[in-house]
Amino acid sequence: MSTVLVTGGTGALGKRIVERLRVQGHEVRVLSRREGAGTHVGDLTTGEGVRAAVDGAELIVHAASDTRRVGKPDVAQTRNLLAASGTVRHLLYVSIVGIDRIPMRYYRNKLACENLITGSLVPHTILRATQFHDLIAAGLRAAERLPIAPLPPDFRFQPVATEDVALRIADLIAGDPLGRAPDMGGPEVLTFGEMTEVWRARRGKPRRVVRIPLWGRVARGLRAGYNLCPEQRDGVRTWGEFVASDAGAPYGRR
Ligand SMILES: NC(=O)c1ccc[n+]([C@@H]2O[C@H](COP(=O)([O-])OP(=O)(O)OC[C@H]3O[C@@H](n4cnc5c(N)ncnc54)[C@H](OP(=O)(O)O)[C@@H]3O)[C@@H](O)[C@H]2O)c1
Repeated sequence: MSTVLVTGGTGALGKRIVERLRVQGHEVRVLSRREGAGTHVGDLTTGEGVRAAVDGAELIVHAASDTRRVGKPDVAQTRNLLAASGTVRHLLYVSIVGIDRIPMRYYRNKLACENLITGSLVPHTILRATQFHDLIAAGLRAAERLPIAPLPPDFRFQPVATEDVALRIADLIAGDPLGRAPDMGGPEVLTFGEMTEVWRARRGKPRRVVRIPLWGRVARGLRAGYNLCPEQRDGVRTWGEFVASDAGAPYGRR
């Protein structure tokens, strides 16, 4: 068993990774900016506390990301982490399917992080996953608050459970560095319209939905399915199962 540092170990995916690695018997460190939220306090953007968190760790799962700032600080974060990772045996970076084909600002920053890792001397694996159930659920929860929700029903997704991705990551980090691992997707490819119907059937909201016409290369990419990997339906938990669980429970029952 090894000492593993998980950056982003307090996030949606990171929490699952930490649980899974602990079940497997690893000694797990969690880096967080917030006192008491993890085992180590630090800020990847400034580099504060990062060396202390890495020192003595054999493996690193890098799942931190500043999504609120569209991933802009992620590049500095990854650079600071790599600078402290000279003696690490294996670093795994969590990335997203299609970031090189869909010109979103967040994706450009993720791609820059991948390039930093690929160009470094740190033995690594990059795993690209499709959209998490939680991300799409957050969008639908926001839409529930609107009297009429404008949504793009023809965008396509291959939603995957964070538990399933965490399981894959726990296996990969314990193995040899692969460079780029095969992409990982959920068990089914669905349109956003289909996903919204499953959600509404369970929660009764959003009450009214209108089709929002979106143009541009990002919208085209999400319609064309550049964010999918249909040949890699590795996740087992379906969108319907996720929605039927606590995460999708009707108001008042969560
Ligand atoms: N969401 C998706 O659908 C999806 C799909 C595929 C891949 N991914 C990738 O999976 C990874 C995890 O995503 P997520 O949705 O689980 O993220 P999340 O819930 O937004 O969590 C972000 C994490 O990053 C940490 N973080 C942010 N800035 C930091 C800083 N300056 N220093 C230290 N820690 C910092 C946060 O820790 P504290 O707040 O505790 O400091 C938090 O644990 C990301 O790289 C994302 O791009 C996401």
